[in-house]
Amino acid sequence: MKLSRRIMAIQPSATLAVDAKAKELSALGKDVISFGAGEPDFISPPAAFAYARRAMEEGRTHYPPTPGIPELRQAISDYYRERFGLTIAPAQIVVGCGAKPMIYEALAAIVDPGDEVILLAPTWVSYIEQVRLADGKIVIVDTEKTNFIPAIREVEQAITPRTAAILLNSPSNPTGVMYDADTLKKIGALAVKHDLWLIWDEIYEQLVYGDNRHFHPLQLMPELAERVITINGVSKSHAMTGWRIGYAFGPQEVMNKINALQSHFTSGATSIAQWAALGAMREGGGESQKMREAFQARRALICGLLAAMPHISFPEPQGAFYVFVNIKNCLGKSYKGQLLKDDIEFCASLLEAELVAVVPGGAFFAPGYIRVSYAVADGVIREGMARLGRFLAEIT
Ligand SMILES: Cc1ncc(COP(=O)(O)O)c(C=O)c1O
Repeated sequence: MKLSRRIMAIQPSATLAVDAKAKELSALGKDVISFGAGEPDFISPPAAFAYARRAMEEGRTHYPPTPGIPELRQAISDYYRERFGLTIAPAQIVVGCGAKPMIYEALAAIVDPGDEVILLAPTWVSYIEQVRLADGKIVIVDTEKTNFIPAIREVEQAITPRTAAILLNSPSNPTGVMYDADTLKKIGALAVKHDLWLIWDEIYEQLVYGDNRHFHPLQLMPELAERVITINGVSKSHAMTGWRIGYAFGPQEVMNKINALQSHFTSGATSIAQWAALGAMREGGGESQKMREAFQARRALICGLLAAMPHISFPEPQGAFYVFVNIKNCLGKSYKGQLLKDDIEFCASLLEAELVAVVPGGAFFAPGYIRVSYAVADGVIREGMARLGRFLAEIT
């Protein structure tokens, strides 16, 4: 039977595929260590469970309002006022089933067939497929030469009359790099000059380490209010990936359309999960902070171990929970007589030889790299890095 061109163009998520392969080997009794998954290993804050339990006992099992329960939209509005000093009306907020569908809904609301969306590579896998799903055209601006911070001139050169939006993610999955205020202002100025949307995905904004500071573009340029759609959620900040709650906010007109789209798509996100997210946002700040501290310590641990290994280099991550490791010096060389042609073969050999799963950079439009998630326990980091070190030492 015929399948649509749209769906035939879609590739499955490479990160989830790596994780699935690692789980498959584990199920066969192999001692696999996976640095593939992009999710905290902690469990959600107790307040999430308490609010969810209460919601169930109170029988909150009916369709919730499409854009989210009022209490949660209010809590999000309060959060943005306290954290960033921004005034976001609850009516401008749409809660959905994770941040992922909110990005797609935003793209669907602003991209016409053939419109271009600028992605800054390395870029998260799902952006690529979601732009395709929205019938948009991907335009990649590579940031590798400039330490993963976009060169403004190159971004401007990529803009054409068909450009609808620039999609930005900071702290970044997969690099852990964050955009400084100056870069953000320059990108904001480009958006104004060329009348573009900015989709601003700050799902990792609470996971920022050391002296690094995260800015929201509207703090720096309030005049961007009519063109920024912000994406956030509780998945990473409160270890709530399985509850599937994310949200978007932006100018009222586009949010009304996103709400209309969601009303025909998923309807409102799961009622009980929304109450859980409310519990986490109201009372889970302490746990969230402890998780951030644990990630910060793990970052120090994994970076220290990686720094001592041969052949590789990496920028120290400023946020999120990934290290993006340059393995180009290993490519074209051999591991125990087996040629390592590219990052995919590197990852396959590493998994086969040492049972360590990492994601090939090609999945993020950055071949020659691997993404290592440090959202795993200290002991797992130590053992996994010992195996990676052993693997690298055998490459000649
Ligand atoms: C950059 C980025 N945005 C959005 C998401 C999706 O978050 P959620 O699990 O809430 O859908 C992820 C998850 O990996 C991510 O890395």
